[in-house]
Amino acid sequence: MAEVKACNILITGANRGLGLETVKQLSQDSCPKRHIFATCRDPDGPKSEALRELAKKHPSVITIIRLDADDPCSIKESAKKVGSLLGNSGLNLLLNNAAILAKGTIQTSSVEDLKNTFNTNVIGPLLIIKEYLPYLQTAAKASGTPGMSCNKAAVINISTVGGSISTMPSFYGQFPLLPYCVSKAGLNMLTVLAAEEVKADQILCMALHPGWVRTELGGEKAPLEPKESVEGMLRVIGSLTEKEHGGFLDYTGKTIPCMMQHNTSVQNGCGVHSVYIKSTSKKQAGRP
Ligand SMILES: NC(=O)c1ccc[n+]([C@@H]2O[C@H](COP(=O)([O-])OP(=O)(O)OC[C@H]3O[C@@H](n4cnc5c(N)ncnc54)[C@H](OP(=O)(O)O)[C@@H]3O)[C@@H](O)[C@H]2O)c1
Repeated sequence: MAEVKACNILITGANRGLGLETVKQLSQDSCPKRHIFATCRDPDGPKSEALRELAKKHPSVITIIRLDADDPCSIKESAKKVGSLLGNSGLNLLLNNAAILAKGTIQTSSVEDLKNTFNTNVIGPLLIIKEYLPYLQTAAKASGTPGMSCNKAAVINISTVGGSISTMPSFYGQFPLLPYCVSKAGLNMLTVLAAEEVKADQILCMALHPGWVRTELGGEKAPLEPKESVEGMLRVIGSLTEKEHGGFLDYTGKTIPCMMQHNTSVQNGCGVHSVYIKSTSKKQAGRP
């Protein structure tokens, strides 16, 4: 069961896969003032049927909003709509979950795949943070408590171990996913820099790896079910403090290193103090 106590939550790519499972788990817990803005690019389309069904079951908790991470106008419009629904309350938790995976190597990747992946996986989250920042700032100010937490105001970027410069090379032969991995390394850098920008507002910002999960993106061979991955991620999200600000963790709470590190004293994931993981278990890594 989710341990996240945030009231107002927005998640992208909420119509299937990990996004849908996250909405499901968050709408089942007992947080009384919870409101979830479940966003997807085609709310009325066939791929959003499961989300519409879920929203019907929890009409006072879930609002479906159109947001295409590859379309700056749609991001702006979604922020206006969510802003009008939030009123004076801020947004406590922004989950940048939507992403696409394109396979390929330097030899085989098309320019189109590279551009599309970068647009959806990096520029999308960047513009979403930008448009929703005022609402996160409102929530941080309104909380009246010191420090950082996802219950106060937080941005969580769903990344992957495939975006870790130190971990991915040993998996590249098995998983030639260059456009995806390059874009997620970009997302990791975005996380670190966004963390710097929002530090003064006491908005927590970090990246999370869900493990290798059986979704359309993860494929059938993945060892984890979405339920287990999301339970783990929500447990981690619920426990975050300023110590993890700018960091990169997996769904079990382990730090993932972002950069090539050959020394023993390293920086945590993308941020401060922690352990350099030399080996990664199958559930945590494998196909990213
Ligand atoms: N599954 C894994 O093993 C794994 C491992 C590491 C990291 N991750 C990360 O976990 C996150 C969720 O992945 P998943 O496994 O749930 O993937 P998934 O099942 O393929 O779902 C991807 C979601 O992103 C949405 N999306 C794609 N492009 C979008 C756009 N332009 N605008 C808005 N939504 C868009 C999809 O919506 P449509 O239905 O409209 O396409 C769908 O809801 C991703 O960030 C992924 O990189 C997953």
